[in-house]
This record gives sequence, structure tokens and C-alpha cells, in this order.
Amino acid sequence: MSFNIAIDGPAGAGKSTIARAAARSLGFLYVDTGAMYRAIALYLLRHHVQPDESEKIEELLKDMTIRINYVNGEQQIIMNNENVTGLLRAEEVGNMASRSSANPKVREKLLQLQRDLARDNDVIMDGRDIGTFVLPNADVKVYLTASVEERAKRRYVELKEKGIETDMETIEKDIRDRDYQDMNRTIAPLKQAEDAILIDSSKMTIKEVMDRIVDAFQESLKLKG
Ligand code: DC
Repeated sequence: MSFNIAIDGPAGAGKSTIARAAARSLGFLYVDTGAMYRAIALYLLRHHVQPDESEKIEELLKDMTIRINYVNGEQQIIMNNENVTGLLRAEEVGNMASRSSANPKVREKLLQLQRDLARDNDVIMDGRDIGTFVLPNADVKVYLTASVEERAKRRYVELKEKGIETDMETIEKDIRDRDYQDMNRTIAPLKQAEDAILIDSSKMTIKEVMDRIVDAFQESLKLKG
């Protein structure tokens, strides 16, 4: 049987950094479900659809296929036979992903793919609803968060390194908006699963967070026998 670790939390809490590193150290697959939602968002943007145009979205999704594969341990998203991985981090795509992911058809499109990956592989899967909905029986569940101010600071540094000029106020507002959207949608909203370990990374190093997760993994491995 495969071993599953679910990591949920708000945008900018460090989920992908932590999950990628922990997956490498444990020899697990890292499954980034946000990238899947971003791929659908990119597809919808290319078709100039608004996130609330449910019927159009439903029609368009019928002509869309999404697969993932791994190159040197890095997840690649293949949409309609095109590798779109490099196009998914744009701000516009992230915002569209947050809005369009509230659509039940969008979520339905990805659910089986996510569950199949977890059934067939040892995975660390990150997202918003992994511990609460996608993998309710995950062996380890983590809710990783950090204060809005800390997440904004990290985002500011990241954008600056990429040469993108912005200001803290705009970033903080974007983060608050994204949190609101992700936590208040009707289906599978972002929330901490009852049996998830809460980790607030505001004042923690990446290594400290990693160690907490690896400890939880070892505990759970003992229980599993
Ligand atoms: O983690 P991320 O920023 O790449 O995710 C982009 C958006 O996708 C996020 O704002 C909400 C949505 N998402 C979701 O609804 N459920 C998931 N499991 C992962 C992401």
C-alpha cells in the first residue's frame, strides 16, 4: 500500500518548497495540485472565458486533457499534449486558478487524477483540500500556514529576485483576497482537517518545518507497522 502525506495551507505558506524538499528526502513523488488548477486556468484564459461562465467552462473542459509526468523528479503538466509547466507561475494564472477552482466541474476534472496518483505512489501532495477531501485517509496531514505579513515578505523577496518591482501593500492585499476566495468557496474550501498537524512557519526555518514533517512521517510509519 502506498504512503500518503497531505499538505494544505494558504498561498505563500511555503507548501511547495517544503513538500518538494521532503519528497526528495523521503523518496516520494511530489504532487503539486495547485499546478493542475493553474493549467486549467491557463486553458480558460486562452479561451477568454470568465470564471463564472459555468456552462462554457463545462463545454471547454470536455476538450481538455491533463496528464502529469516527472522529469528529474520535477512534476510536468501536460495539457492537451503540450507541456505547459513553464507557463503556470504567472500572477494572472494564479488569480484565475483561485477563482475558477470554485467551479465544481473544474474540481471534478482533477479529483480522480489526484486520487490515482496517491493510490499508485508514495506521495507528498500539496493543495487546499488534500487532507479534508482528496485524501481523507492520508497517513500524515499537515496544515502549513504563516502570518499574512510573513507570507507577503517572502513573496516580495521572491518577486524582487525575479526583477519584478512591486510594493508590500499590493502583495498583502493579493494574499488576503486569495485567502478569502480559497477559504470561502462552497466546495472543498481551504480549512484545517481535524486530524492535521498545524505548523505555523512564520518564525521557523525550512529545515525546522521539514524536521517536523519527517518526525510525523516516522511516527505514522511506526503506527502502520
Ligand atoms: O497553490 P497554488 O497557488 O499554485 O494554487 C493556485 C490556486 O488553485 C489556489 O488559489 C486555489 C486552487 N487550488 C485549489 O482550489 N485546490 C487545490 N488542491 C490546489 C489549488
